Amino acid sequence: MMTESCSSLPIGVFDSGIGGISVLAELIYCLPEEGYVYYGDSVNAPYGVRNKDEIKELSFQVTNHLMKYGIKGLVVACNTASSAAVNELREAFNIPIVAMEPALKPAVELQNTGKIIVMATPLTLMEKKFNSLSNRLNNNTEIIKLPCPGLVEMIEEDGGKGPELKEYLEALLLPFKKDDRNVIVLGCTHYIFVKDIIREIAGEQACLIDGNRGTARQLERLLKQYQILRSCNKEEKGYTEVKILNSANENNKLALSKTLLEKHLNLLEWKGQLKYLR
Ligand code: DGL
Repeated sequence: MMTESCSSLPIGVFDSGIGGISVLAELIYCLPEEGYVYYGDSVNAPYGVRNKDEIKELSFQVTNHLMKYGIKGLVVACNTASSAAVNELREAFNIPIVAMEPALKPAVELQNTGKIIVMATPLTLMEKKFNSLSNRLNNNTEIIKLPCPGLVEMIEEDGGKGPELKEYLEALLLPFKKDDRNVIVLGCTHYIFVKDIIREIAGEQACLIDGNRGTARQLERLLKQYQILRSCNKEEKGYTEVKILNSANENNKLALSKTLLEKHLNLLEWKGQLKYLR
């Protein structure tokens, strides 16, 4: 049972690896007074090429682990795990849970003719959740599913700096460049970290959309609905508490997560301060 006294408890956030750090940055930006415990399951990444049962099992393991930190809410910062497991997670855990899905709705609102290209993991694009969304929103646009197997691994490696990454993305995206104006949906939280490269290849005329801001707003709505939104005045606190965990438990993975988080917060021009908890 969620009561107002739960409001000082942290929010759990998880992804198959470091991708959800891009969501965490957005959550901190929008809700800096909350505390966060982030879990990246890098040992088992990528989720997107596994079968649904395996992803469900991994999502349960991670959520059970996060529950030990007394979380008051959960953000599944992974489109793939959301597609495979969110219904069962909601049935099993008595806390508000925010799931993710490729940001097709804002894309359709923006583009009512031409092409919408959805980059995501093979599982996300195959699952019922995405396909019923796509059927529901269908207008005059052509929705193109662009699975990107292998991309998550390249980003997990070093945040997406390797030379092979550009070649991979060029092979995927250059065929669409001739079109006048494409909307590209980044339907996997890892891909946000290579947005600049995608932009460079797709060209200035392409519009890139992701679901991170919408996810943060949905969390805010749920916390208000359950009356567990944390509020403390800035003088009282003035920093956001974050704990970062990773199944790889390696210093370099944790360091990469922190670097990406800080870089992303800088891009958002966030002026607050982080306090990392051990
Ligand atoms: N960040 C996950 C997503 O949003 C990546 C999934 C994977 O590990 O393949 O779908």
